[in-house]
Amino acid sequence: MRNFIYHNPTKIIFGENVLHKISAEIPANARIMLTYGGGSIKKNGIYHQVVSVLEDFFFIEFGGIEPNPQYSTLMKAVDLCRKEKIDFLLSVGGGSVLDGTKFIAAASLFDGEPWDILENQLKVTSVIPFGAVLTLPATGSEMNAFAVISRKETGQKLDFGTPPFTYPRFSVLDPNFTRTLPHSQRINGVIDAFVHVTEQYLTFQQNAPLNDRFAEAIMKTLIEEGLNYVNEPENMSVAKNIMWCSTMALNGLIATGLITDWATHKIGHELTVLHNIDHASTLAIVWPGMMRVMSQIKKEKLLQYAERIWDINNGDDEERIEKAISKTEAFFISLGAKTRLSDYKLNKTTIVQVVENLKRNGFVAIGEQKLVTPEKVIAILESRM
Ligand code: NZQ
Ligand code: ZN
Repeated sequence: MRNFIYHNPTKIIFGENVLHKISAEIPANARIMLTYGGGSIKKNGIYHQVVSVLEDFFFIEFGGIEPNPQYSTLMKAVDLCRKEKIDFLLSVGGGSVLDGTKFIAAASLFDGEPWDILENQLKVTSVIPFGAVLTLPATGSEMNAFAVISRKETGQKLDFGTPPFTYPRFSVLDPNFTRTLPHSQRINGVIDAFVHVTEQYLTFQQNAPLNDRFAEAIMKTLIEEGLNYVNEPENMSVAKNIMWCSTMALNGLIATGLITDWATHKIGHELTVLHNIDHASTLAIVWPGMMRVMSQIKKEKLLQYAERIWDINNGDDEERIEKAISKTEAFFISLGAKTRLSDYKLNKTTIVQVVENLKRNGFVAIGEQKLVTPEKVIAILESRM
């Protein structure tokens, strides 16, 4: 393990009917901007509940943050924030609204071209404080400092994170808010959380047995509860477990002291940019290819994964690794995910474009050991046709 400082300042307000507690978390004289997405919160009543809690506060609204939040939309919110002298943001939605809100929080106080925060990774030194009401468990954005922002004009999807500034002050995790999720977003949530864990766990042996067991506990729980969550929208007991898993999967805890991977995500982001495929759906396509092509590099951890997650103890190393990868893909499929490029009618042209885009963004040696080169990306995606 490497040296680390772990400081996660986000207060988690977890459980049913806890939304009212946010009134104690927001300064009484705050000038609030409520941010939301395409309107699901108005249909399912969450908007109404939030507005009731904010009754005694000053607030304005900014809706229309799209899935894979767009820079141009967010810059409109930045203008509004500056004009209205907003000093608190409240995100109500999934990862896209929250990531967008993180960017608005940072860009509004940024002295310079805000796109540089993403493209040139310029550091943010102050943000408008923000809190979150989460309606879609998946990304972990509710308890991490990262955000992923897209810009369709340039065909880019880039991330930034400036801890401690870009952590939410608080996040409300009420399982009731997941009741109206579309079936596809339930599948996405489980897969996103699962792959977040593997991006941190399936690397190389770093002698971090506690981190490993935290990660294994999250994966086991997602496997046990995933299908129930997908099929039983009214089951709040299951929804609570998935919510907590997806938060724990990417709040920094299981990565403490570790070198992590994230190559599956980098490739997935390009598939979203090119074909507007949902974030987690891209991971379900890329993941099996990544594991097969990088299996020698990841061998020790893949064998541990095979044994501890899938109880695979028989066969030689290659056989056990292959069984573990196949079982994982079968798990994704059992949830309802598609795992092939051909499922989206994509062909080799897409592979060329993904590689070009990765090169353009400077991602030519990615993964935990920087061994995922353009040639490897081609092999990974060709195996996913
Ligand atoms: O736009 P609204 O009306 O809110 O509808 C959304 C959207 O259409 C809908 N939805 C959300 N909660 C709902 C609901 N519909 C009915 N009932 C509810 N309770 O679901 C759709 C998808 O929402 P979105 O926020 O886009 O999904 P998700 O939470 O999966 O976020 C995806 C974004 O997060 C980024 C992804 O790249 C993508 O841009 N990620 C962020 C990360 C982070 N900040 O740490 C890490 C992740 O790996 C990921 O990259
Ligand atoms: Zn993800």
